[in-house]
Amino acid sequence: MNILVTGGAGFIGTHTLIELYAAGHTAVVVDNLSNSNPVALQRVEEIIGVSKIPFYQVDIRDREGLEKVFAEHKLDACIHFAGLKAVGESVEKPWEYYENNIGGTLVLVDVMRKHGCKNIIFSSSATVYGDPAEIPITENCPKGQCTNPYGWTKSMLEQVLMDIQKADPEWNVVLLRYFNPVGAHPSGRIGENPNGIPNNLMPYITQVAVGKRKELGVFGNDYDTPDGTGVRDYIHVVDLAKAHVAALQCFRRETCDVRRETLDLRHKTEDVGSDAKVSSLKSQVYNIGTGHGYSVLDMVNAFIRVNGIDVPYSIKPRRAGDIATCYCNPSKAKNELGWEAKYGIDEMVRDSWNWQRKNPDGYPER
Ligand code: NAD
Ligand code: WQD
Repeated sequence: MNILVTGGAGFIGTHTLIELYAAGHTAVVVDNLSNSNPVALQRVEEIIGVSKIPFYQVDIRDREGLEKVFAEHKLDACIHFAGLKAVGESVEKPWEYYENNIGGTLVLVDVMRKHGCKNIIFSSSATVYGDPAEIPITENCPKGQCTNPYGWTKSMLEQVLMDIQKADPEWNVVLLRYFNPVGAHPSGRIGENPNGIPNNLMPYITQVAVGKRKELGVFGNDYDTPDGTGVRDYIHVVDLAKAHVAALQCFRRETCDVRRETLDLRHKTEDVGSDAKVSSLKSQVYNIGTGHGYSVLDMVNAFIRVNGIDVPYSIKPRRAGDIATCYCNPSKAKNELGWEAKYGIDEMVRDSWNWQRKNPDGYPER
């Protein structure tokens, strides 16, 4: 398939491009580079041995820019990563988050449907479960109250996409709820490159290890968890990337081709009401995690053990909005998509460090 990858220059997008090409797919990338660097795409091209992945520095809110992409490429599906993702910033700038994430997705989906491309994989998040009603979390667990606007954009966009699919069964919508992505490509050429002070645990640990920050603050050791620190379902980004490739099977090739022919026919006859005879797929939601919960101190200790580098830390007060425990039951993805995570905690901390030590200042400016 030829896949539109929005946000393809970012952390998860770049890793997914590699797995798409490895599986025989091709991609077209749209990214406004608001949180990424084009050098990352050059490195992806080096890793996969492709001279040029088509790239458009376009904002998904820019309808004309997206129209141009669809006019120049025949696209079968979209993997939609583009969005702002900093939880704390979303509390300070809620309008910007709703406008970028929700406004952008509405424009994207409108342009997609105009061009007969109605297959989308959406980057959702475990955050939609709020303080989860059950552990491990299955997809049947009810969605909860998000503690920040970022989380609400994910929760609301899930609803938007499901409603669009319900009204027009030609849409195939796959919602992937990621747990906590960490790690990097084993080459150490691409990885997570946060601006400023990292919000997330793993990039904070690696920046302490590389000497850019003095010590890690561990946010609370009085949770109801085995060692008192927060427990999460960390997943290696390469496994996460592969989950997107596995999810593409929800968009069977024949379905895409039938759709395109139907659309052409409709244009010719202007018979918009004709029976499309398109097999009806559905909205699908999958938890994408390992099913294992590790505490903050588990991660710190694994990092020290595997990499032989000290990570000084001290206990700080709890961070507002954090929950004690969050890990999933990923068996739906295994049973229906044949996907499961292969990497464990040792590979996660090894590859996070490999990326950071080889790129202490992230990507170079072009
Ligand atoms: P990232 O910031 O590295 O990648 C997102 C990319 O989207 C960036 O390259 C950015 O420049 C681009 N972008 C943002 N707004 C855009 C716009 N309006 N138009 C075009 N491009 C735009 O983030 P990531 O970690 O790779 O996350 C990818 C997706 O997965 C995001 O939607 C994020 O919310 C979601 N997600 C991430 C995590 C995580 O912890 N990393 C967890 C759950 C879900
Ligand atoms: C993990 C654990 C912290 C930093 C966030 C978003 C979620 C999703 C993934 C996008 C917690 C502790 C952290 C530090 C610490 N993102 N911690 N010191 O909060 O589980 O999830 O990223 O969708 O929506 O909320 O991830 O990496 O920030 O925290 O002690 O400096 O590490 O308290 O227990 P979180 P995280």
